[in-house]
This record gives sequence, C-alpha cells and structure tokens, in this order.
Amino acid sequence: MNSIKSLIDTLYDTANLTDDQLLMILTEIKSTEDLQYLFDKAVSKKASHYKDAVYMRGLIEFTNYCKQNCNYCGIRGLNTTVDRYRLDKDMILSCCKEGYQLGYRTFVLQGGEDPYYTDARLVEIIKAIKIQHPDCAVTLSIGERSRESYVALKMAGVDRYLLRHETASKELYESLHPNMSFENRRECLYTLKALGYQVGAGFMVGLPNQTDEDLVKDLRFLKILSPEMIGIGPYIPHEHTPLKGAHGGTVEKTLILLALTRLLVPKALLPSTTAMGTLDPKGREKALKAGANVVMPNLSPTDVREKYELYKDKICTGDEAAHCRQCIEGRIKSAGFSVDMGRGDHANFKSEHSSKALFTIVE
Ligand code: 5AD
Ligand code: FES
Repeated sequence: MNSIKSLIDTLYDTANLTDDQLLMILTEIKSTEDLQYLFDKAVSKKASHYKDAVYMRGLIEFTNYCKQNCNYCGIRGLNTTVDRYRLDKDMILSCCKEGYQLGYRTFVLQGGEDPYYTDARLVEIIKAIKIQHPDCAVTLSIGERSRESYVALKMAGVDRYLLRHETASKELYESLHPNMSFENRRECLYTLKALGYQVGAGFMVGLPNQTDEDLVKDLRFLKILSPEMIGIGPYIPHEHTPLKGAHGGTVEKTLILLALTRLLVPKALLPSTTAMGTLDPKGREKALKAGANVVMPNLSPTDVREKYELYKDKICTGDEAAHCRQCIEGRIKSAGFSVDMGRGDHANFKSEHSSKALFTIVE
C-alpha cells in the first residue's frame, strides 16, 4: 500500500492526522486510484452515521441587500449593478408553504447582511413559520450579528445557523473582507455554538492567493470547532467584484477537501453545493460520491432568483421549486443514494437539546 493510502486509512480510523500529513495528502494526491480510494472511504464513513440518506433543505434567498463588501461576492454592497430585492413576511411564508407541499421539512433563510431585517422583524417572520410548520427546522444564514440578536433569534425558534468562516487564514481573510474582523467571525461561531444552535461553518476552495497550507488551516479549524454543518464550495469569480478576472477553484480540489472534511469531522452534515453544480453538470453528484449528504434546492420565487447572483452563471435561476425538487431527487438517486425529506438533524442532536441549552444561558 502506498503512503497516501495508508494516511487515508489512519485518517479513517482515528478521524485525525497532523497538519503535515494533511498537507501531504493535499499536495501529493494525484492518481485516479488514490482519489477514488479517498472518496470511497469518505462515503463509507458517511454511511456509518447516516446510511445512504441525503437530506433536502429548501433554500429561500430572501434579501440580496448587503452592507458588507466581500471582494469575491456578487451581491456586495458596492456592486451598483445588482437589482436589490427583499421578500416580506407573506412572501417568505408562501415559499415555505410551497416547500412544505413539496415535502421539505427544513427551510434555510439566507440573505446578505441587511439591516432592514431587525431582530423584531426576523422574530416575527420566524415565529410565523414555526406556527405554520411546527414540524420543520428553520436555518438562518444572514451573517454576523450581535450575541443579543442570536439569543433573540434562537428564542424565536431558529434551530440552525450557517456562517461560513470563509478561510481560516487571518491574512487571506483580511485581504478579502474590507472592514471585517477575522476574530469577530470566529467569535460569532463560538457564540452560536454556546447558544445551542446547530452551527454551520465552511470555506471556499481556490480563492486567489490561497495555498494548500491555508486549506490545512481550514481543516484544522473545522476539526477543533466541530460544527454540525460544513459548507465547502469552489470560489467562482464574479465580474462585478474587485476579484474579476481571477481564477476560480476546481471541482476536483473541492472534492478532495470535502472527502478530507468528512473523515476529520465524521458526523458533519455536508452539502453538495450549487457552486459545484455550476462548474460541472455532474458536480453535485460527484460531491455526494465524495462524502456530502445534504442538498439545498432553491425555493425562492423565480422572479428574484437571478438577482441573488453570488458568482457567475449560477444554476437554477429559471427553475420552479417543483422542478428543482424533482431534478435533485433524480440526481441523488442516480448517484446511488436515497432522498430523506425529514428535518435531517445532526446525528448528536435531539430537538430538546437546543431549547435546554438556551434556557441555561438566558436564566
Ligand atoms: N464563489 C463561490 N462562493 C461564493 N460565496 C460568496 N461568493 C462566492 C463566489 N464568488 C459563498 C460564501 C458565502 C456563501 C453564502 O456563498 O462562502 O458564505
Ligand atoms: Fe434546480 Fe436542478 S436543482 S434545476
């Protein structure tokens, strides 16, 4: 057995390696045989916790206003070419209703950092969703907020929160995020964890100037934080950003990082991202075959889809929710997995856990 395979075996058995060993896999793995070995191990590890299930989440992109200016992101505040929109409570509820009828039991509300959505407005929206769909999980993905805000949202019924760390290299982070703080972002993740949310971190692959050493830092950070969810996708340039003209990440490299992440944080919920499907028509299937176990089809109204353009040529912008639902189901089955329309909580998570954690904190 070659040294790469034996490192993969150690990683499979112990869910850990040293930084140097991770770096060695990242830089040296090339042959189709070694890659397949890594992906098969990742799928087998996933199966030991989640069998062949792939969880579905309905994604509602409810605002493309953003006060931040991430240099890679198409909806950054300074991009004046974006046609900005916000969905009001009734529109969001009607997306949830349609999603519920299609079988979804998790709704992911994602948006830019939009100050219009104060705690009071969000609490009202979340409570309304929870009243209409008490059997559903609600996930928020709306960036950095204060601890008080995270507490209020948790109390309103939010179950999960996605906040990618984007990159674990302080230098790279600061070069990409004007006026944002590397430390504060991490602090937000720890706060969310302490409040009892199921937390999602994650990063982009192929950012300009990102090295394999930086990617090892991402893996190490994830191993230490052990978030319930980990979103990993290739960086894809957008022409109306300061990084236009940059090279993006590749599907193959992203697959390697997905598989390594599966082996380092075995029970994580790992989405097969839309960015993978954008770069390669079979990208999402490939991600499932490298250890991913979540997909997030779009439930946003079709007339706003194109306006939520984080990167170029984003797929599914013209497709009805029902179409995406069917499309994804076909892809999951063709990759050899089965669709699970349940809430799809993390393997360690009991629903009472989240409220208990919160009550301890606010008492
Ligand atoms: N390419 C790929 N992913 C991107 N994101 C934002 N802009 C891009 C881009 N140009 C990712 C970020 C963010 C998530 C919602 O989308 O990681 O956290
Ligand atoms: Fe939207 Fe395939 S998931 S068209």
